[in-house]
Amino acid sequence: MNEKIEEKALENLKILFENVFRKERSESYRNIFREVYKEDYPEEANPDSFVTLTDLRTIAEDLKVSRGKKILDMGCGRGGPGLWIARETGANYVGIDLSENAIDQAKQRLSNFNIEGTVDFRVGDMYALDFPENSFDGALSVDVISFIPDPLVVFKEAARVLCPDAHFVFTTWENKTSQKINDYRSYLRDAGFNVISYIETSGWKERQRKVYQKTIELKKVLIKDMGRDGAFTWIMEAKRYLPILDNLRRILTVARKI
Ligand SMILES: C[S@@+](CC[C@H](N)C(=O)[O-])C[C@H]1O[C@@H](n2cnc3c(N)ncnc32)[C@H](O)[C@@H]1O
Repeated sequence: MNEKIEEKALENLKILFENVFRKERSESYRNIFREVYKEDYPEEANPDSFVTLTDLRTIAEDLKVSRGKKILDMGCGRGGPGLWIARETGANYVGIDLSENAIDQAKQRLSNFNIEGTVDFRVGDMYALDFPENSFDGALSVDVISFIPDPLVVFKEAARVLCPDAHFVFTTWENKTSQKINDYRSYLRDAGFNVISYIETSGWKERQRKVYQKTIELKKVLIKDMGRDGAFTWIMEAKRYLPILDNLRRILTVARKI
């Protein structure tokens, strides 16, 4: 991709997420997820993504790390899913995100998880990770990769900072429309990973469809609760993706650094 277009895409993404992270996720919007996900809603993690409790358990397990090991969360957002996984695995955790607002809030969430001292949150870009080679024993990324214009660059960065045999575990969406990526496996191999598993997450489409339908249905409630600017992102996302959900496939991937 042309470098200027890529820079512009990254800048727009940063503006979008800084806006999203200006305020806490509203209770009215969280209620939609609670109602749709039921007991699979990761209440404590309070994610800014479509991750479920089942996904979080799987990611924690697939990272194959334990106390004393070090993991990197790429695009950690407000940190909830990463903190949940850090506590579950016992590993030392570093979360990076483009958004300063997200990182500020992630630092505030830390005290909810009782794992201070083993956690570090930093503003950072997945395109150019600010860590030396072989720094981490595992890496994760929850619902971020589909925003990335060039995943090969990001996968190469992940491979660079991971130790040999370390696992990179992520969730994202494939997109069957012509100009988008519909299979990440070749990019992973080109970046220096062996793909260990590549599965569609169970029930994702039904959940995501219901969340979008309810978001549109409850538009007025969301606007009242979050204001027009706050609700706009979620209503626009629902309107944009609801008609094309059949072109998407949400996957959970485990890749091992060669
Ligand atoms: C859908 S949110 C997911 C956040 C978090 N993983 C979660 O599950 O709550 C996507 C996140 O990716 C971050 N992001 C997008 N592009 C990035 C990049 N190049 N480097 C770092 N973070 C990025 C955004 O700022 C945003 O926080």
